[in-house]
Amino acid sequence: MCGIVGYIGPKKAADVLVNGLERLSYRGYDSAGVAVMDEKGRLAVRKTKGKLEQLKRLLEESPVDGCTGIGHTRWATHGEPSDLNAHPHTDVKGGIAVVHNGIIENHEALRKHLEGCGAVFASQTDTEVIAHLLNELYDGDMLHTLLRAQGMLQGSYAIGVLCDREPDQLFCMRCDSPLVAACREGEGFLASDVPALLSHTRDVVFLQDRQVGVLSRQGLRVIDEYGQACEPSFFHVEWDQSSAEKGGFAHYMLKEIHEQPTALQNTFAPRSRLGDFQWLPLSEDTACRLRRITIVACGTAYHAGVMGKYALEQLARIPTEVDIASEYRYRQPPVGENELLIAISQSGETADTLAALREAKRRGASVLAICNAVGSTITREAGEENTLYTYAGPEIAVASTKAYVTQTEMMIMIAVALGVMRNTLSMERAEALYQSLRELPSKAADTLGLEGRLQQIASRMSSRKHVFFVGRSVDYALSMEAALKLKEVSYLFSEAYAAGELKHGPIALLKPGRLVVACVTQPRVLEKMLANLQEVRARGAEVLAVCPDALAQQVRPQADELIVIPDTDEWLAPLLAAIPLQLFAYCMAVARGCDVDQPRNLAKSVTVE
Ligand code: M6R
Repeated sequence: MCGIVGYIGPKKAADVLVNGLERLSYRGYDSAGVAVMDEKGRLAVRKTKGKLEQLKRLLEESPVDGCTGIGHTRWATHGEPSDLNAHPHTDVKGGIAVVHNGIIENHEALRKHLEGCGAVFASQTDTEVIAHLLNELYDGDMLHTLLRAQGMLQGSYAIGVLCDREPDQLFCMRCDSPLVAACREGEGFLASDVPALLSHTRDVVFLQDRQVGVLSRQGLRVIDEYGQACEPSFFHVEWDQSSAEKGGFAHYMLKEIHEQPTALQNTFAPRSRLGDFQWLPLSEDTACRLRRITIVACGTAYHAGVMGKYALEQLARIPTEVDIASEYRYRQPPVGENELLIAISQSGETADTLAALREAKRRGASVLAICNAVGSTITREAGEENTLYTYAGPEIAVASTKAYVTQTEMMIMIAVALGVMRNTLSMERAEALYQSLRELPSKAADTLGLEGRLQQIASRMSSRKHVFFVGRSVDYALSMEAALKLKEVSYLFSEAYAAGELKHGPIALLKPGRLVVACVTQPRVLEKMLANLQEVRARGAEVLAVCPDALAQQVRPQADELIVIPDTDEWLAPLLAAIPLQLFAYCMAVARGCDVDQPRNLAKSVTVE
């Protein structure tokens, strides 16, 4: 979503801020701006609709002096993308500047109140109320003012604040929206996400809800909502700057697809000793008593959850539900004893998944989080001890790829562990699965070699208007993910169907010119899938099939194009097949001239409802 940066130190703030905003540009934005303050407390704001290039031009034409500043990339929510609606926003006197991520839910009531007190609003944004509110409450101490403002602001916010009467400090505060601060000798930094800080430091502090951070050249102070000083707890980020950059690839999405062998290895390695399930925060007793598991997640993470349902039910014999987090949070789910809720999220900041997790906790469920972003809100709410990290490394592209395969791998590992603990899976079968997990990274690397072939297929098929994805059993879960990937990066209308459902309606849409992508990795349902493909081709639609080597001979006659992946365990085959389907989506998007890393209307981290 939007991006926040802040800086205080000896350098020219505008340069540091723009550089930081560039590191956050993957989040998607439609306007950008900075506010910079010099030592005398003179505040200057430069902001513009459009990309960072426009902001840079503006700063060249009209430079700003000063070594303290805040910057923002905005993705419009309240009010159209425009120069006026771009952040930072200031109060009437122009002495307080604010950048904000999130949504102030009571902004209309606050606006009325503040207008009554003489505030004149320049924008349509909810953010501007914060600047006027801080001005209204200001008592000569911005830290104190921010703590008072907390009681009046409803909704989610991560904010950076400059105040001309306190020119040697930079303030920040958060509630339900991520904010990271850092400092080193004579400098302080602020950002909404770690990549903006990595070129300066890898030791960061993740602010907690309702904490206020005060950055100065002397360091960082953290104050809780009651005004008590807290010891900042520094976290060392393992990623370096290059792992957050493109590294020679044309797009982050392609780079991240290529990082999957390593990501899969990193997820598996710390849990690779079969029989030693210490990594799973569930005792054998608890595992045996489990009566139901509910998985909540959004988007791609939800699809990993669907795969998890199949694995948990079949390998560990635990009834499992998967719910879209935005549905779960409002459906008043009954939660009984011996139930576990698993929240899956790459970012650990998705608002609906976080709310679903809170709802489950409130109703008494035990929780487990599967996350990639270390220190994120969901990991903290679940508790570090109840969090399983996927260790996939930073995922920058909006389209999730390496997060998906590692989440899916994690779900299978959990199902195997629970299966062994509950005695529903033999050690022999578990060992065979673990052996396949060990071999998975190198097989994933082999599938990357399919890129050239997929490029050719995509250049021939890129003008298609409708694409169907079909599969049975776990291949249906894979079809959902493959369809999402294609639609979000190429803007093609693509939809997934359980192959057995085709006859119940969707087949009416099939005719010459339609493309059906068939996921055929499961020997158990092979015959049924082949029958479905015959039906598809009988309607004149074209079939692109993906299958393992062992099934290729049988699938080939029913496919116009066939993509063959290496043989592996049937539970891991859909995971391997996801890779060429990600490449297919990527190549289609490139062939159609789409903005692969920042697809239309999408943001990497959906921190609002
Ligand atoms: O960070 P999360 O895993 O919680 O994100 C969930 C979805 O927003 C995310 O997977 C989204 O669907 C991606 N754009 C899919 O590629």
